[in-house]
Amino acid sequence: MSTKAPLFSRNFRKSFPVAVRGEGCWIHTADGRRLLDGAGQAAVVSIGHGVPQIGRAMAEQSSQIAFAHTSQFHSAPAEKLAARLLALAPPNFRNGGRVYFTSGGSEATETAIKLVRQYQLEKGQSSRYRVVSRRQSYHGSTLGAMTVSGNVARRAPYQPLIAEWGHIAPCFCYHCPFEKQFPECGIACADDLDSFLDRNDADAVAAFIFEPVVGATLGAVVPPEGYPARIAEICRKRGILLIADEIMSGMGRTGKPFAVQHWNVPPDVILVGKGIASGYAPLGAVLVAPQVAEIFERGSGVFQHGFTYQAHPVATAAGNAVLDHLEANKLFDRVTPASEILRAELASLLSHPHVGEIRGLGLLLGIELVKNKVTREPFSKEENIAERICQAALDENVLTYPTQGCVDGFRGDHILLAPPFIVAPEESAIIATALKSALALVFGN
Ligand SMILES: Cc1ncc(COP(=O)(O)O)c(C=O)c1O
Repeated sequence: MSTKAPLFSRNFRKSFPVAVRGEGCWIHTADGRRLLDGAGQAAVVSIGHGVPQIGRAMAEQSSQIAFAHTSQFHSAPAEKLAARLLALAPPNFRNGGRVYFTSGGSEATETAIKLVRQYQLEKGQSSRYRVVSRRQSYHGSTLGAMTVSGNVARRAPYQPLIAEWGHIAPCFCYHCPFEKQFPECGIACADDLDSFLDRNDADAVAAFIFEPVVGATLGAVVPPEGYPARIAEICRKRGILLIADEIMSGMGRTGKPFAVQHWNVPPDVILVGKGIASGYAPLGAVLVAPQVAEIFERGSGVFQHGFTYQAHPVATAAGNAVLDHLEANKLFDRVTPASEILRAELASLLSHPHVGEIRGLGLLLGIELVKNKVTREPFSKEENIAERICQAALDENVLTYPTQGCVDGFRGDHILLAPPFIVAPEESAIIATALKSALALVFGN
């Protein structure tokens, strides 16, 4: 355990083991433990830890040229990765789509916020600047990204610094904000975007951003059939751009390269992060559809935005090597069958009196813990259930991703599971067994 190191760590009350080696789905620590990475380190690691080809590709690139500033140069790995991402994206990104690389997810969100603003300016729609989003969502930790995020706890300390551009209802059937049931609800949560625009200054809105599958904040909540299409239709009708935040759900995590492909919805912008380099390098990307990029090309020609490290040659080389590995080992195709195995292993947890729902898509799964399964009443925040389950699973050497607040921003406990795509059936069984023990330890039954 390292407590004295001069790192400004995430939690001063906690001591963190030092990770020294990764191998497949396992992380080895300096104090000799071997931990099963059941959450892919926050839905990041897709190909598994310790794949030597990735490090070699990065070393090779840095020995050729490690850095060349994007105001003066392009690099071959960035150009190559851009073309490959567009080929994986929905068909509306082909023939003229563009990719803006960043150093992570929050930078991708910031980039998209500025990009949709400048897009509207280039089109002569100077009143449009707001990016509307949903309550109970997360799009990143920088201030622009916090502005569009609806994650109450993560926003709370910074409230005075954050603009209010408006949030609509989440799409969350298990705790429906309208207390309705699908399909009788008529997807009221999608129509909430339309009514929001009716009630507010619609001419000030530039775009709408959403997570097709809500990751950390709600615990892998999948929209009902018809929701993404209805949202896309409203955006189209209202002349606002649709940004799909696939930082967590993209790059194969849900069983398709991008989650929106499950519903054949064509966003204007797709945000990518996490799995794009499987944790081997800090990398994110903004995929821009041709009709948006064209406005810049035909307009001022200059996007007033930039980061020193954007489109970094070594990071994009890592992205290419990860994609090579995903393709050579057909790992995108492993997600759905691996998910079925993991879900089958987890199924018995549902008989536990406090396991309310197991949900998700592909290898992005959530387990919600409730006080009362009939009423779906959550535990109080103070009971700290998700964190206690996580700690108890860790005692069984299994890493999970706990979060509180899925019900109202404060109450509601869930555990996110997002193992690497290579997770073996025996490893899925270990995850389920550890969670079973954790439930028994925390609830004493
Ligand atoms: C959906 C979503 N958007 C944005 C982000 C922010 O990405 P990063 O932490 O790489 O800045 C995250 C991170 O968890 C995320 O899950």
